[in-house]
Amino acid sequence: MDKIIVKGGQTKLQGEVEIEGAKNAVLPLLAATLLASEGEVVLTNVPILSDVFMMNNLVDHLGTSISFDQEAKKIIAKANSEIKTTAPYEYVSKMRASIVVMGPILAINGQARVSMPGGCSIGSRPIDLHLRGFEQMGATITQNAGYIEAKADKLKGAHIYLDFPSVGATQNLILAATLAEGVTTLENAAREPEIVDLANLLNKMGANVKGAGTDTIIIKGVEKMHGAKHSVVQDRIEAGTFMVAAAMTQGDVLIKDAIAEHNRPLISKLSEMGVNFTQEETGLRVVGPEKLKATSVKTLPHPGFPTDMQSQMAAAQAIAAGESVMVETVFENRFKHLEEMRRMGLEVDITRNTALIQGNSNLQGAAVKSTDLRASAALILLGLVAKGQTTVRRLSHLDRGYYKFHEKLKALGADIVRVKDEDGEE
Ligand code: UD1
Repeated sequence: MDKIIVKGGQTKLQGEVEIEGAKNAVLPLLAATLLASEGEVVLTNVPILSDVFMMNNLVDHLGTSISFDQEAKKIIAKANSEIKTTAPYEYVSKMRASIVVMGPILAINGQARVSMPGGCSIGSRPIDLHLRGFEQMGATITQNAGYIEAKADKLKGAHIYLDFPSVGATQNLILAATLAEGVTTLENAAREPEIVDLANLLNKMGANVKGAGTDTIIIKGVEKMHGAKHSVVQDRIEAGTFMVAAAMTQGDVLIKDAIAEHNRPLISKLSEMGVNFTQEETGLRVVGPEKLKATSVKTLPHPGFPTDMQSQMAAAQAIAAGESVMVETVFENRFKHLEEMRRMGLEVDITRNTALIQGNSNLQGAAVKSTDLRASAALILLGLVAKGQTTVRRLSHLDRGYYKFHEKLKALGADIVRVKDEDGEE
C-alpha cells in the first residue's frame, strides 16, 4: 500500500478545488437501481472511490448489470427482472453501507439474506433499527451463521418511528417501502442531504416518496419501477474537509459549486473560529485567519454538526488558541485519531465521548496511521501545519472516501506526495 508524506508548517493553501459527487449518496443510489425492473438507471457525477467499486460489485452480483465509465464519472445500471436473494459475505463484509441492499431485495423477492456488514470500526454500529422497521412491515427476521434473513410474503406499509434518526435505517426502509403494499410513514427519519438525493432518484424511477429532508417521510408503494437519469449530489464532507484545510492554513480557497446549505453547522463553527466565507458566483470562498479561535463542537444528526467532520474539525481545534471541546454523540469510540494526533504533540483529555483539546501552534510532524476514513484526512490536514514531516499510513481508509486527495491539496500548494510504502504496511 502507499503512504502520504506531507511537509508542513509553511503552507498557505490557495486556489480553487473541485468537489466530487457524494460517496454517502451514491451507495444507496446504487442499491436503488436494484428496484428497477426495466430500463437503465444512469448516474452521473459518480465519485471514483473504492467503496463505489465495492457497491458496484455487490449490485452487479445481485443482478443489475453495472458499467462504470470512470472518465465520464458515469454509471449505467441496466435493470434485470430478477435479482438474487443473498448478499454474500465477500461482498458485504468490508462495507457497512452495503446493508442498504436488504430493503430492495426484500421488497422484490419477499426474502433477503444478507451477511452481517462490516466497515469502519467506529463503535458498535448495530442495525436493529433497520430490522425493526422491516418487522413492522411484516417481515420475520432470523439470524443464522453470520447472515441476517428476512422473509415476508409481501411487505406492507407501516407507521414506523425510529428511536434515532439513523441514516442507513431511513434509507433501507424507504427503499423497501417503495414497492410495499400501501403507505409507509417514517417518523423521526434522518434528514441528511443524501436522503433527499435518494428520494429524488426513486421518484424519477416511478416511486412515490414525499417529505425527504424532513423528519417525516411518507412512501406510497407502487407496483413497479423503471430506469431514470440522475446526477449525484455534491459531497458535503469532502467540501467541508477542504473548508477546514483552508481554515487551518491561513488559506484562501474557492470551493467550486459548494452547497453552503448542506454545511451550515460547519460554516457556523468555522466562522466562530475566525474563518471568513464569501459566496461567489462559482463557489464558496474560504479564507483562514492568522490564528483560529478555540470552539466547542457537539456532533449530532443533520442538521447538526456532522460526525463525519468531527476528526477534521478536531485537527483545526488542535491548532486553535486555547482549549476546545469536542463532544461526539453519534458514534461510540470515534476518537482514535486523537491518539494518533498525540504523536504529533497534541495534548488532549478524553473522558468517554468528550475531548478537551489544548490548541498548540508547535505541533511536530510524525509517523501516524489512519484509524478510519475521515481520520485519514484529518491527519493529513494536521500534517499541513505541523512542523517537519508527517507520514500517514493505512491509506485504504482514505481511498474509500476521498478521490485524489493529495493531488487536490498539492494543486492548492501543499508539499505532499504519495509513494509506495516500502515497509509493506497496509
Ligand atoms: C451514515 C454514513 C456515515 C455517517 C453516519 C452518521 C453512509 C454510507 N454512511 O452511516 O458516513 O457517519 O451516517 O451521519 O451514508 N444505530 C443504531 N441502530 C441502527 C442503526 C444505527 O443504534 O439500526 C446507531 C449507530 O450505531 C450509530 C448511530 O445510530 O451510533 C448513527 O448511525 P447511522 O445514522 O445509521 O449511520 P450509518 O447509516 O451507518
